[in-house]
Amino acid sequence: MDNLIIRQAGLDDVQGISDVLSEITAAGKRTRPSDPGFVLTNYVGHPDQLTCVLALSETRILGFQSMKRAVAANPYGVQVGWGIIGTHIRPSAARCGVGRALFQATLKVAKEQGIPAIDATIAASNTEGLAYYAAMGFIDYRSHEGAVCKAYTVG
Ligand SMILES: CC(C)(COP(=O)(O)OP(=O)(O)OC[C@H]1O[C@@H](n2cnc3c(N)ncnc32)[C@H](O)[C@@H]1OP(=O)(O)O)[C@@H](O)C(=O)NCCC(=O)NCCS
Repeated sequence: MDNLIIRQAGLDDVQGISDVLSEITAAGKRTRPSDPGFVLTNYVGHPDQLTCVLALSETRILGFQSMKRAVAANPYGVQVGWGIIGTHIRPSAARCGVGRALFQATLKVAKEQGIPAIDATIAASNTEGLAYYAAMGFIDYRSHEGAVCKAYTVG
């Protein structure tokens, strides 16, 4: 996609990120909350957040990618010190290379922060999510309760 702006999220982006999640929910691709409070608590203001990077067309947020540091007793059971990634693109902007551009930015942070590997936990039924992470180089390493966990080894 031309003229894509990639930058870190800030507190002023909470509503725009919430709008992205709401569009995904409206498309039937999300069941977790989308409200600004959830965005602040789980992404922009989360204490373990390593990066929350946005892709914009002019001022409109098309999608974002979050990576947290896995801490002891993290809810995903991911090895401590790894990154935990999540990617959310507006359905109206999907399959235009936005997710690919975001991963370049996230990977740069992972290298800078010395993160050895990144976990992506995806619903087993989410074929586009599975295809996306496979295309980014993630490899299946475990599965549980209807979810597939893929790992990317940071070079
Ligand atoms: C999955 C998702 C993150 C992909 O983001 P995207 O911006 O559409 O992905 P890109 O356009 O950068 O695609 C990169 C590559 O991923 C693969 N891919 C992405 N979407 C795909 C789809 N629907 N079907 C098959 N392959 C797909 C392709 O290999 C693609 O490369 P190509 O277009 O050159 O063939 C996005 O569709 C999304 O946010 N979905 C809803 C939320 C979600 O499921 N998130 C993932 C789990 S956290």
